[in-house]
Amino acid sequence: MSDMRPIQFVFRGQPVSVAVPEPTRSVLQWLREDARACGSKEGCAEGDCGACTVIVAELADEMPEPSRAVRVAGLALRPVNACIRFLPTLHGKALLTVEDLAGSGGLHPAQNALVEHHGSQCGFCTPGFAMSLALCHERHAEAGTAPTRPELADELSGNLCRCTGYRPILDAGEAMNTLPGPRLPLEGLADQLRALRDEPSPSIDGFKAPRSLAELATQRELQPDATLLAGATDIGLWVNKQFRALPQLIYLGDVAELRTIDDDGATLRIGAAVTLEDGWAALVQRWPALSEMHRRFAGPPVRHAGTLVGNLANGSPIGDTAPVLIALGATLTLRKGQATRELPLQDFYVGYMKNQLGRGEFIEAVCVPPPSPGWQVQAHKLSKRFDCDISAVSAGFALRLDGEHVAEVRLAFGGMAAVVKRAAATEAAIVGQPWTEATLRAAQAALASDFQPLTDLRASADYRRQAAAALLERLWLSTRPSQPLALHELRVFA
Ligand code: FAD
Ligand code: FES
Ligand code: FES
Repeated sequence: MSDMRPIQFVFRGQPVSVAVPEPTRSVLQWLREDARACGSKEGCAEGDCGACTVIVAELADEMPEPSRAVRVAGLALRPVNACIRFLPTLHGKALLTVEDLAGSGGLHPAQNALVEHHGSQCGFCTPGFAMSLALCHERHAEAGTAPTRPELADELSGNLCRCTGYRPILDAGEAMNTLPGPRLPLEGLADQLRALRDEPSPSIDGFKAPRSLAELATQRELQPDATLLAGATDIGLWVNKQFRALPQLIYLGDVAELRTIDDDGATLRIGAAVTLEDGWAALVQRWPALSEMHRRFAGPPVRHAGTLVGNLANGSPIGDTAPVLIALGATLTLRKGQATRELPLQDFYVGYMKNQLGRGEFIEAVCVPPPSPGWQVQAHKLSKRFDCDISAVSAGFALRLDGEHVAEVRLAFGGMAAVVKRAAATEAAIVGQPWTEATLRAAQAALASDFQPLTDLRASADYRRQAAAALLERLWLSTRPSQPLALHELRVFA
């Protein structure tokens, strides 16, 4: 423990040094138990309810382009669930909590609006809502605009309230940019963070935070059994819900080369530390048809903390990114030491939560080829709730017609097998054929040889079979050569 060095971050506008005896201690535990800042609440401890929402500020010039973080005063602000954010990852950043909202100028406009519109009853969720609303307020105050109701519904999809029924909270969101009150206390924060850049990295038993790709590659080879930590939106639940011990963590979030999005007009390359929010925004910029999947992936605090590559690496059979990127023909760049190799994402998974990563290897980036002319791309997420819910079935489709015939097709499904995978027999029933109802029916029949889905608490096997066939029908109805229907005109299920 001798050469332990504390982490340094900015809290309540002041630089603080915090010793971290246990790397998986959450920001919420530190806030409530050590800093006695009890405004942030714990509801679920798994990133679902948003009661623990805080704001993490970094320097804007450390963000990828494009980034959906709120940029103001040289900073990039993101909502984060403090319950699944490990404390050491705050090093070099600034933390704002609900106690920072009210200033000498009285309540923050978001707080004023919640009071005026009765947006709170028991008040347990309210600090989280106030933080998400304050961030939305900041985004619009900077732009001189006001949020629309649908936009507020998206911004608040990571916050659950059991009492008020949301109408008053949305009313408050619509009103807040017209109300008086101080903006977020960001004065001088960027300078403080720049000063922290020169501070030595923390030294914590069981936790390494390399700053460069070369350093990460070396660390990974030295400690091949260490857990690679990205946004902790899966790993955080291993600790909070499964009580797993993680003796050695290697944190990817501070590796500059992994935080980049490169789009040379041909290949779109998304680094392994790019957040879900920024990674999905880059995909939607190319394929606007993916925007609903982006909006429905978790909620903003998870999307701003979790990484897109982490979703692929985690390899859940109902992960939402893999079906889409497999349909788009994505490849992974895997690195071990100085050596890299490219692997098609469709070949990455070898069994339930098992993948092709070699010992000492990690994913450096995911690369998506350019949208060739004529490809029609669709993404579908079927879950009980529209917002922030785990899929029962998810799908990524890409299809290219040549006249009345199907020239190429890529159909990938999640939730239908132990791994996300392409429907090979179904594709074979379609490719080269005229895109008619008869071909659709043959393809629907072929699904049975591609997938033998399970029944679990999210859906029955029968539901999954019918749902997959219905999604194929939706694909045909919306892409058939004569009278294709617009997707929004189609409802798969009543
Ligand atoms: P971490 O939790 O940091 O790591 C996940 C796994 O990937 C670990 O095994 C880690 O070692 C490994 N890993 C990470 N990066 C690399 C790398 N570069 N190389 C090798 N291994 C690596 N998922 C969905 O698909 N759809 C949803 O709608 C959805 N909703 C969610 C809602 C909530 C409330 C929560 C808490 C999670 C949700 N998730 C969802 C799951 C999770 O958010 C995603 O899987 C996320 O993308 C994981 O990324 P991360 O950076 O947090 O990964
Ligand atoms: Fe529910 Fe953190 S306590 S999201
Ligand atoms: Fe009670 Fe929202 S006011 S949970």
